[in-house]
Amino acid sequence: MRNTVFSGIQPTGTLHIGNYFGAVRQWAALQAEAQCVYCVVDYHALTIDIDPQMLRPASRSMALDLMACGIDPERSILFLQSMVPEHVELSWILGCVTSFGDLSRMTQFKDKSASQEFVSAGLFMYPVLQAADILLYRASGVPVGEDQVQHLELSRRIARRFNGRYGELFPEPEPIVGRGARIMSLANPGIKMSKSAGEQHYIGVMEDRESIRGKVRSAVTDMGLTPGAEMSEGVRTLFEILDLAASDGGGEDDVRALKEEFEAGTLMYSRLKDAVFEAIVKVVEPIQQRRAELEAANVVDDILEEGAARARSIARETISEVRDRVGLG
Ligand code: TRP
Repeated sequence: MRNTVFSGIQPTGTLHIGNYFGAVRQWAALQAEAQCVYCVVDYHALTIDIDPQMLRPASRSMALDLMACGIDPERSILFLQSMVPEHVELSWILGCVTSFGDLSRMTQFKDKSASQEFVSAGLFMYPVLQAADILLYRASGVPVGEDQVQHLELSRRIARRFNGRYGELFPEPEPIVGRGARIMSLANPGIKMSKSAGEQHYIGVMEDRESIRGKVRSAVTDMGLTPGAEMSEGVRTLFEILDLAASDGGGEDDVRALKEEFEAGTLMYSRLKDAVFEAIVKVVEPIQQRRAELEAANVVDDILEEGAARARSIARETISEVRDRVGLG
């Protein structure tokens, strides 16, 4: 039997190129070698203060984005988490084999709760629901960005504790962290590219040319033109994006030439930025086109229904086994 891969993404509006290079591109590639289950995690989204009117359209839109990026519903299972309520049932049961101390040590919880006035128990339980997402499909691989490695470590501890108490059932899921798992903001290379930091800190996969051009042009660099100088974080980020984008669309030779110019202290950053802009556009334009086609074809709801039905049939099997082991029902 083929291995199962699971991953999830929050429906926070739209994808940025950090999500794409850091995670979603790996999701698409893994379809060739594993049974992949990909999920828009709308239950998780309730841990942030999201407008109920916006949540459903945002979830649907994220599903479309994923399909446009190459998640193929013929090969993979694609659905919204809330279409399979077994996620929540397993989350409760796993919560009972999760240590309060472990949850208190999650850095994402510490970061997120520090900036909120009202800290919900849901935010605290977030990593347990994430473990449930993965274990429900008994997935062994989880392609994620680097920031999720700690949550994966906890998922393994939870699996181990469940297996220890109730008998071997869950594989211990390993993170699959690809290249480009951490891209920095162009406007402030000291922080990660993210939507929450604000408009100027990310480049959207669905963003139009001119807006991308503007953001790349105003990227932070340095004084430049010093042979053998150490690369500043901003320039490093530009080169990193260029590398990642070139590996998708060809053009590795041009990247090498620009790097040599940098070493020699002759690189004009305006040229580097033009190259970065072109490379990004070459990656995102076909995705944008596919998205428009998918949207026009009006297929997403049927695809999600179908994905949810397949997910539910696996989820039900696992839940029924779990209920049996723990003595419920
Ligand atoms: N916490 C993940 C993130 O913020 C999203 C997520 C939820 C997830 N459930 C998951 C990722 C299960 C991998 C597997 O990126």
